[in-house]
Amino acid sequence: MSKERLLTGQEVEHMSEAWLTKMAEEQSNFTHGVVRILPDGWLYPGTTPRFLNRIQSVKYRPDDVVVMTFPKSGTTWMQEILWTMLFNPNLDNPQATQPLLVRSTDISSDMMFDSVNIEDANPESLYATFKKMCPGKNVEDGIAIQCLDATPGQRVIKTHYPLDLMPPDLLDKTKVVYVARNPKDMVVSFYHFYKVLKVFNYKGSLEMFIKSFMNNELMYGPVWPHIKQAWQKRNHPNLHFVFYEDLKADTQGELQKLNQFLSTGLSEQQLKNVVQHTSFSSMKSRGDPIPDKSLYNKELHQSSGGFFRKGVTGDWKNHFSPELNQEMSKWIKDNIGDSGIHFKMD
Ligand code: A3P
Repeated sequence: MSKERLLTGQEVEHMSEAWLTKMAEEQSNFTHGVVRILPDGWLYPGTTPRFLNRIQSVKYRPDDVVVMTFPKSGTTWMQEILWTMLFNPNLDNPQATQPLLVRSTDISSDMMFDSVNIEDANPESLYATFKKMCPGKNVEDGIAIQCLDATPGQRVIKTHYPLDLMPPDLLDKTKVVYVARNPKDMVVSFYHFYKVLKVFNYKGSLEMFIKSFMNNELMYGPVWPHIKQAWQKRNHPNLHFVFYEDLKADTQGELQKLNQFLSTGLSEQQLKNVVQHTSFSSMKSRGDPIPDKSLYNKELHQSSGGFFRKGVTGDWKNHFSPELNQEMSKWIKDNIGDSGIHFKMD
């Protein structure tokens, strides 16, 4: 039997019924099952290969900026920083009140609508935007991908797909900002998100979640090739690599570097405006980037602090047992190897 392959050449493996049954003990299933994309082993809902093939023909524009991350690494923060730097440095753009997902398309979001647990959800703001921007088009062909095509001018584009699943000439065509976060804080944030979002409806403990994360059994994983692919390109003139912890410790300094990378030429005052507008408290006060409450488990959303949960470095210390910490520290050390990546943990 011939192997199913993506346009980018990777092999698609459909996960077995036994694997899906086991997964369903901890989280929601997906209508079209789950696939692994080989050789790196990316785990995604079964509709993903179709969307991955479609994004190969997206026309990237020279002034587009792509924010690429593993989930919970500071994607939303960077999206808002970039959008504000490009379109609102004087904080006077009325478009800034639009939800972030309308101003900055997530091209890796379409696959998640296949979760069996959100069949009845009605993400109104997404559908309303889609109907307005793409009249006559089909939701099944991808809301995000089609909205992106219909967005005029310069765009800030979000993706959780790694470099090797994006068009091979992406860095020749456009700029990419990659944000990485220390894996201990990222996994705690990911766990809360997996519980709060109906798409996943995660029922297991943090310990179970972390073991699944380290064993590459969670959607979007594995994390290491995701980070390393971008890290290897960190000196490419069209890729800017940022750590969440550095952005947190010296936001103005990191924005100055972005100002150079993007050739935005913003003044110190304009950069200060951006810092203030994108601070954790400012962003939290303006509300969640996913405004559709039907996609959340309501009570958990309230009790956990919502999307803007803590926004700090080192929260993992409030959640890890000494044993779990030891295990994860070893896993991080083994995987970093001699790559030169250094995460700040405190
Ligand atoms: P926590 O859950 O640790 O609070 P992503 O956007 O990639 O999903 O990442 C979400 C994480 O980034 C969450 O982490 C969120 O609170 C944090 N975050 C979002 N906006 C932030 C900001 N302006 N400053 C600091 N952290 C922010």
